[in-house]
Amino acid sequence: MSDDIETQVVHAGAEPDPATGAVSPAIQMSTTFKQDGVGGTRGGFEYGRSDNPTRRALESAIAELEAASHGLAYASGLAATQNILYLLEPGDRLLLTDDAYGGTWRLADKVWRRYGIVVDVVDMTDLDAVAAAVPGARMVWVETPTNPLLKVVDISAVARLAASAGALTVVDSTFATPFLQRPLDLGADLVLHSATKYLGGHSDVIGGLVATRNDVRAERLRFHQNAAGAVPSPFDCWLVLRGMRTLAVRMERACANAGLIASWLADRADVDAVHYPGLPSHPQQELAARQMRLPGAMLSFEPTGGEEAARRLVAATRLFTLAESLGAVESLIELPAAMTHASVAGSALEVPPGLVRLSVGIESVEDLVADLASALESA
Ligand SMILES: Cc1ncc(COP(=O)(O)O)c(C=O)c1O
Repeated sequence: MSDDIETQVVHAGAEPDPATGAVSPAIQMSTTFKQDGVGGTRGGFEYGRSDNPTRRALESAIAELEAASHGLAYASGLAATQNILYLLEPGDRLLLTDDAYGGTWRLADKVWRRYGIVVDVVDMTDLDAVAAAVPGARMVWVETPTNPLLKVVDISAVARLAASAGALTVVDSTFATPFLQRPLDLGADLVLHSATKYLGGHSDVIGGLVATRNDVRAERLRFHQNAAGAVPSPFDCWLVLRGMRTLAVRMERACANAGLIASWLADRADVDAVHYPGLPSHPQQELAARQMRLPGAMLSFEPTGGEEAARRLVAATRLFTLAESLGAVESLIELPAAMTHASVAGSALEVPPGLVRLSVGIESVEDLVADLASALESA
């Protein structure tokens, strides 16, 4: 069709309906499909948990956006994570990045350890540390940029190290989306998204997506997708597809806003640290420029005055809504240590208590800056 992602996001998985010409995919709610004789399915559809036309459109769309041969859709990002972890066997070792979504850690630490998975944590921005930790690992779980400290991991380098040790590389690319980076092109085996975030883009649908080029792994994932059953509803698939159409323009605007806000915060005397991969002060700024089309629309910062100041700040914004989640048109603010990352307290993934995370939306950047300025002053 086109190699340009701006065109792909508009058209991926969007063939006009052959029967009616409808340009928007139909929301096919039927849970079961007539068979023409036993096993005589029409297009392979038999039961809605196993496959569904609206879900198939979404799955082919994410496969196309990630330059993959297989896409799979799930009821949430964590259901997608769970499905990938089903690839492990008891006794296998999972190597996890030391800054990651709290729910990913909770699933690995509180659930999978109970089933005999060994979970180890390493700072994946330190390639020597990855090289030392990777022997014996079965799966290397990268998140980049990371949530909430915005570390950037070198996907090619980590995937090479993992492959040399016989481990699979999984990249949680939720913060980047296929618009900013394509992990499979960089050597990753599997890429995962919480579609709840930028792909859906409007804070109105929970979903997860996985893409891969490997036929055998796709088959295993497809088996568990059906066997465990954490599939999205047809309407949810349609909402994610609709959100995807504007991914490119939303990301461009949100990234531009985030870049301006990050520079503005970095210049303030009442802010101790700003974590944003587009800032010259960011330790992986060069890598981010090489690996990502734009530095993203997520950032975190530490206001002077620690946790107390941070708590006052997040309660004082008006346009930035105090809420969990990220990646939608509206700007959000939160305190990871007390909210999205409460489950990492006391672990190697613990985050600073005074860290404030912003998901920068597509509003007027002047309005967003004015909102932060008055909140910082009142804090
Ligand atoms: C980076 C990342 N991965 C995965 C998830 C989990 O996705 P979901 O909330 O859709 O289950 C989240 C949720 O915030 C996330 O931020």
